[in-house]
Amino acid sequence: MNEEGLNSPVLGACSVMAKSTSTVLPSAVGHHFWTRSKMKCAFTFLCAMGLFCIIVYELYNWTSVLEQYESPHKEVTVDEIMLALSWAASPANFTSITSSSSAERSVVRLEHPEAQYCVGDTLSVLVEMKSYAGHPKAHGGDFIQARILSPKLNAGASGDVTDFLNGSYLVRYRLFWPGEVQVSVRLIHSSETVKLLQRNWTQDYNKAVHTGTFISGAKKETSLCSLRLGSDRPLCEYRKKEDGEYYACYRPKTLPCDTLALASSVYPRGYPRLTKEEAQLLDMKNSGIEIKNGFHPVTVFPCTGATYGSTKKCVAGMNSPFPGGYFFSNRWSSSVCQTGFFLSEYAVTRCLKGKTLYLLGDSTARQWIEYLEQRLKGMKFTLKGADLQLAVDANNNITIRWIRHAHPWVATYQSSVNASVTIPEALDSIAAVGGGQEDVIVVIGTGQHFRPSPPEVFIRRLLNIRRAILRLQARCPQAQVFIKLENNRDIKLGMIRFSNWYGYMQNLAQRKVFEDMRVALVDAWDMTVATYSLKLHPDNFIVSNQIAVALSFFCD
Ligand SMILES: *[C@@H]1O[C@H](CO)[C@@H](O)[C@H](O)[C@H]1NC(C)=O
Ligand SMILES: *[C@@H]1O[C@H](CO)[C@@H](O)[C@H](O)[C@H]1NC(C)=O
Ligand SMILES: *[C@@H]1O[C@H](CO)[C@@H](O)[C@H](O)[C@H]1NC(C)=O
Ligand SMILES: *[C@@H]1O[C@H](CO)[C@@H](O)[C@H](O)[C@H]1NC(C)=O
Ligand SMILES: *[C@@H]1O[C@H](CO)[C@@H](O)[C@H](O)[C@H]1NC(C)=O
Repeated sequence: MNEEGLNSPVLGACSVMAKSTSTVLPSAVGHHFWTRSKMKCAFTFLCAMGLFCIIVYELYNWTSVLEQYESPHKEVTVDEIMLALSWAASPANFTSITSSSSAERSVVRLEHPEAQYCVGDTLSVLVEMKSYAGHPKAHGGDFIQARILSPKLNAGASGDVTDFLNGSYLVRYRLFWPGEVQVSVRLIHSSETVKLLQRNWTQDYNKAVHTGTFISGAKKETSLCSLRLGSDRPLCEYRKKEDGEYYACYRPKTLPCDTLALASSVYPRGYPRLTKEEAQLLDMKNSGIEIKNGFHPVTVFPCTGATYGSTKKCVAGMNSPFPGGYFFSNRWSSSVCQTGFFLSEYAVTRCLKGKTLYLLGDSTARQWIEYLEQRLKGMKFTLKGADLQLAVDANNNITIRWIRHAHPWVATYQSSVNASVTIPEALDSIAAVGGGQEDVIVVIGTGQHFRPSPPEVFIRRLLNIRRAILRLQARCPQAQVFIKLENNRDIKLGMIRFSNWYGYMQNLAQRKVFEDMRVALVDAWDMTVATYSLKLHPDNFIVSNQIAVALSFFCD
């Protein structure tokens, strides 16, 4: 297999445009031997100087907003991001499922019913959570997903959930389209289940362990590999001091550590440390259940006749709220900027002409290359490996490259360890051909394979991605960088490893890590909540809309 450009970072083809900007702000100095009048005069002078400095400083600030790639970004720590992931966990210790939240017993009520609803209005509902025993819950922490929908119009949008921490939740919806609109609130996990998941998530480093295969010539040996192993046996440890990442295997019998070539996941079966009651909490039967509405669907009128939408141009770094848009006729419109024009073959080709698209991450990022290869007639795969895929439209000079991210990688098949790279390594290998003239677009889509590992592992990787993006933006100021958030998925493989609550928390971490950067979010989460899609690999209409959102940032 061709491993071109993977293990040897090619730097420097983009010109580095860093300027040395040193500003010296005068400090006020007082001298005791100055006379009163001299001081008055000096005071006036200093005031004038101060004003001048403020103007210069403001101008400097303003230009650095325009040239953000030059402004220093502060270092962020794992702990700072962890703080952003606070969750009001259930206070009581779990005893029995009868005291935990039950979707069947709870009810959704319409708040302040209006005589008439118009497009653009906000519709609010109150969720009153009750236990299986039927008692009102007195604390928050339940994990809810809410949406409005009009199935006949293929329309849907997510709702914004506020936890009042007293057993009630407010859900607010923006009414984006006219028609009959249904409200759907689902209890994904009770707060008791979240507490259990949270404990397991933060403590267990060994839910996604590997069998590593060491290969040298004809000789093969296997051993257990993981993100954390006891030091009771000799280890092969894989780490680089500068990025804080770690992976280890028990040392194979004879082969050296650097012959580690392949890894495949092993899932320990069952829930050994869960009580019977706890296992019931994690049962799929009790997840994602719709809560009854105490009201009928509402009819939304156009009123002013205007359709809902933004006419602003999408720009990287702009606010990206949740919910941030809606589906109508299976077409996504952002509520903050103009999207949705890039669904036809013609529009996509015109936009991507002459560009190189890098898709870095997991199979949800790979869906983009698969979709584009199907959709664009001129686009053909020239390489279709497990770690690297390349598709080219020679006539239009479009190159799409997907690069799989390295461990943590969860797969029961043998995946390469020695030939795979982390996203930061892949970012460092990107060189813009032709002295930075060629347009480079980078889409980062990761998270699903990190769900079984503690949040710290994902956050550390995100911080390394953050630094690598800053390096890329210094080398290639023209590069467009997208963060595709994680989407909802099915949980057949086991809630405790892959719950969507982990995905939700990881998305909060991604938003926090990249919030001050010149990157754009593609909120795949929002799209799968709006449709309540539970496919690890969302349907093509969702993928096509993810791509259309990204293209809206660099084409008109
Ligand atoms: C829950 O259990 C832990 C450990 O068993 C104990 O320290 C804590 O006080 C308990 N909390 C409550 C609210 O009962
Ligand atoms: C919970 O808090 C909200 C907001 O403060 C309030 O409107 C609601 O009535 C409270 N619910 C209960 C059951 O106390
Ligand atoms: C987490 O869940 C896994 C899978 O059920 C279980 O094997 C493990 O013991 C749990 N770990 C902790 C710390 O609860
Ligand atoms: C594609 O790129 C090549 C080399 O840079 C150039 O000669 C050619 O004109 C380009 N073709 C199109 C259709 O832009
Ligand atoms: C990875 O290991 C396999 C098996 O030994 C070998 O064939 C392959 O060349 C190695 N790849 C790299 C990039 O080292």
